[in-house]
Amino acid sequence: MRIGFVQLAPYLGDMQATMHRIDALMADADGADLLVLPELCNSGYNFESREQAWETSEELGGSVFMHYLEAKCRQHGMHIVSGINERDGDRLFNTAVLVGPDGCLGKYRKLHLFLNEKDYFTPGDLGLPVFDIGPCKIGLLICFDWLFPEAWRVLALKGADIICHPSNLVIPGLAQKAIPIHSVINRVFVITANRVGTEGALTFTGLSTIADPRSDVLVQASATEEAVRTVDIDISLARDKMITPRNHALNDRRPEEYTLLTER
Ligand code: ACM
Repeated sequence: MRIGFVQLAPYLGDMQATMHRIDALMADADGADLLVLPELCNSGYNFESREQAWETSEELGGSVFMHYLEAKCRQHGMHIVSGINERDGDRLFNTAVLVGPDGCLGKYRKLHLFLNEKDYFTPGDLGLPVFDIGPCKIGLLICFDWLFPEAWRVLALKGADIICHPSNLVIPGLAQKAIPIHSVINRVFVITANRVGTEGALTFTGLSTIADPRSDVLVQASATEEAVRTVDIDISLARDKMITPRNHALNDRRPEEYTLLTER
């Protein structure tokens, strides 16, 4: 299976320009089976107001950006995960969608909102779903979710082989260090598709990363350049949870000792 990411700088408030840019970058996607795009790709990130967040959002049914992703997946026989500014009634969600050749397979709404996102978005209300696409099972997290190991663990316990992580990371260095650790602790592949560029006072940190279940970084982009990177993986690595012949990363847990985790 060939997996990858597109690292780019979406245009704040100009979805058409972003789609043209993705088109150009995807020419180098090398027959990928699964590609991950950054967080909030249809809108950009650093809104000046709730009005701007609202104007750049889309209902998923009828979304121009979703139609674009669906057409790409049909054309290339592939799956794409992308961040999207989702409008639902009078609420906005910071959402990741999973799209395949037959259309949208599911979505996740960001649980852990970062800084000003709390002014615009409603916290996720769909839990932590895992989607079976045939060759593998996919879990979704978004950007600042990286700080919460419980979320990664739940996805691993639900059988995710690959965790796709659309991001707009801004704190230099931190998440990119944590990603390979989440990979090895849960014995999963992780694809973090970060963005580059600057919006207002925020500079995004790039360094999009694919890490494997042994914590090896298979691919990493630069901190500043747009890029598409892909790599062939053996998904069976994510299904071998044995750390030693007598230690299983999930079955050796002692959940009866962790009850504090589910208290407020
Ligand atoms: C982030 O969650 N976009 C930092």
